[in-house]
Amino acid sequence: MDTAFTRLVGCTVPLQQAGMGGVAGPDLAVAVADAGALGMLGMPTAAPEATAEALESVGRRTAGPVGVNFLMPFVDRDVVAAAAGRCRLVEFFYDEPAPDLVALAHEGGALAAWQVGSVEEARAAAGAGCDLVVAQGVEAGGHVRGQVGLLPLLDAVLEAVDVPVVAAGGIATAREMAAVVAAGAAAARVGTRFVATAEADAHPSYVDALVGAGPEDTVLTTTFSVMWPDAPHRVLRSCVEAAEAIDDDVVGEMEVPGGARLPIPRLSPPCPGRGTTGRTDAMALYAGQSVGAVRRVERAADVVRELAEGAERLLAGRR
Ligand SMILES: Cc1cc2nc3c(=O)[nH]c(=O)nc-3n(C[C@H](O)[C@H](O)[C@H](O)COP(=O)(O)O)c2cc1C
Repeated sequence: MDTAFTRLVGCTVPLQQAGMGGVAGPDLAVAVADAGALGMLGMPTAAPEATAEALESVGRRTAGPVGVNFLMPFVDRDVVAAAAGRCRLVEFFYDEPAPDLVALAHEGGALAAWQVGSVEEARAAAGAGCDLVVAQGVEAGGHVRGQVGLLPLLDAVLEAVDVPVVAAGGIATAREMAAVVAAGAAAARVGTRFVATAEADAHPSYVDALVGAGPEDTVLTTTFSVMWPDAPHRVLRSCVEAAEAIDDDVVGEMEVPGGARLPIPRLSPPCPGRGTTGRTDAMALYAGQSVGAVRRVERAADVVRELAEGAERLLAGRR
C-alpha cells in the first residue's frame, strides 16, 4: 500500500506503532520496522547517552525506519538532538507545537511530527514545520489530548492541513485501518494492540487485563495525575477502582535503564513493565477503545501483517 506516509518515511505498510512510554522499547520498534511499518521508541525520561545507545543498537538490528516519541512535559532538548541524528522521525505529544523543537529535529536530519487532539493544534503543528501530524481521537489509549472522536477530527484535520495525516485512537483491526486510509489518512497509528505483543515491555498481568477487557471497560480520567497533572488519559476502569481502594503512598517498584529500581507513587503515570513489582493492578493500565481486538499475546510482525493484508484486501473491494 503506497501512501504519502510510506513514501515520506520509507516503509512499505502505512502503519505507525505508537511510541508508548515504558512499553515501546527497542525490541518492539525493531520487530515493527522489520515487518515493514514504522517502529517507535517511547523513552520519555531517558538521558541523551541512553537514547543514543538504544538507537544505535536498533540501527544495527533493522534496516527499517524507526522514530522516537517525546512527551513535552518531560522533554529534554539534548535528548531530542541525540535522537534526531540517529532516527527517521522525531515526534512530540502534548503542549503547543514548538517551531524550535521541530527545527532541532530537522537539524539532526530527522522528519518531525506532532500528535494533536484538535484542528487548531494540527494547524499549529503544520505551521511549526512538521512533516506530518497525527490526529488522535478521544478513543485513544494512554494520554488523550482532545475531546473529539477520531472520524470527525480526522475529517477536519485533513481539510485544514496539507501535510500527511496519521490517524490514531481506537484502531486495532484491518477494518479500522482500512476505514481511516479510505477516509484520507496517510497511515494508521496503533497503540493498545501492540502492548499485547511478545516484544513489548508490558507486565503479564497488564496484558491479561487487556485480553479480558472490551471497549466499555475503558474510562477517560485524570486519576493517574501525580507528576503530570491536568492530563486526561484512557485506562481500564479496574485500575482506577483498585488505586482508589488502597491507602499506601507507594504501590510498587519499577526497573529503569541501568538496572536501578524506583518506587512508583500511587496515582502516578508509569504503567507496569515486565520488571515492575507490587500492585500492578492499581497502576495506570492504559487502554484505548481498541482493546476489544486484543485477544492474546502475538508477535508484533503478525499484527502488522494481519492489519496490512486485511486493509489492503478491503481497500481493493475484496472481502
Ligand atoms: C500504554 C500506552 C502508552 C502510551 N504512551 C504514549 C507516549 O508515551 N507518547 C505518546 O505520544 N502517546 C502515548 N500513547 C498514546 C498513543 O500515542 C496513541 O495515541 C494511542 O495508543 C492510540 O489509541 P489506541 O491505543 O486505541 O491504539 C500511549 C498509549 C498507550 C496505550
